[in-house]
Amino acid sequence: MPTQLHISADPEAVARDFTRYLLEQLRDKKHFTIALSGGSTPKLLFRLWAAEYRDVIDWSAIHFFWGDERCVPPGDDESNFGMTKALLFDKVNVPEENIHRVHGEEEPEIEARRYAAEIADNTEQFNGFPSFDLVILGMGDDGHTASIFPHEIALFKEERFCVVATHPTSGQKRVSITGPIINSAQRVAFLVTGANKNDKVNAIFQREEGYPSYPAAHVQPVTGALHWFMDEAAMYDGSPNS
Ligand code: 6PG
Repeated sequence: MPTQLHISADPEAVARDFTRYLLEQLRDKKHFTIALSGGSTPKLLFRLWAAEYRDVIDWSAIHFFWGDERCVPPGDDESNFGMTKALLFDKVNVPEENIHRVHGEEEPEIEARRYAAEIADNTEQFNGFPSFDLVILGMGDDGHTASIFPHEIALFKEERFCVVATHPTSGQKRVSITGPIINSAQRVAFLVTGANKNDKVNAIFQREEGYPSYPAAHVQPVTGALHWFMDEAAMYDGSPNS
């Protein structure tokens, strides 16, 4: 399935454009699994959903997971779950049982195994792997995605559903889903904004020399749809070779 590009004027417009897409995918669904990304871009989404979609989205139909989580307690400023709770779960009515957080406070390797089992127990299977209805991804300005970084790119192809990754500069441990899980999803949506991403977006879309060294370049759902929601600052020059 060809890559679908969605270009918006600015990050707020990206959040609105993606939300329109999500509403289309959620229509008439009573059970929908989403793996959220972390970092700053999703904050725009959560603020928009809390402000304008509190009574529009059937939150009881969505099961929330994370594509990656920092190995810190849930109340830590670094916690992706903590950020999502503060901006979204504390403001809309998501049933407790629909929130499948990574226990960042636990020993990373033990938690990676536990979380892999929680994913497997709560998603459909496809292609021999757990298959999320939707995986939302960000991309770092080094081309990482989820918490698979270029210096550990071998982790992307791991058969394990979840691995322990290490942030290249801070050394922070993280639990991350791997490439087979990402590429077994029914839908994958990158949300990428900002001029600091432009270099890697260009490299990936125009297959510039060295682009396979960027984990984000390896996201290609087996049969699912791949969407890139970007603002003009992040988008590449030219058309994708997809
Ligand atoms: C994380 C993320 C990570 C993020 C990218 C982009 O836990 O940090 O999941 O992969 O999506 O680093 O982050 P920004 O949205 O802040 O640019």
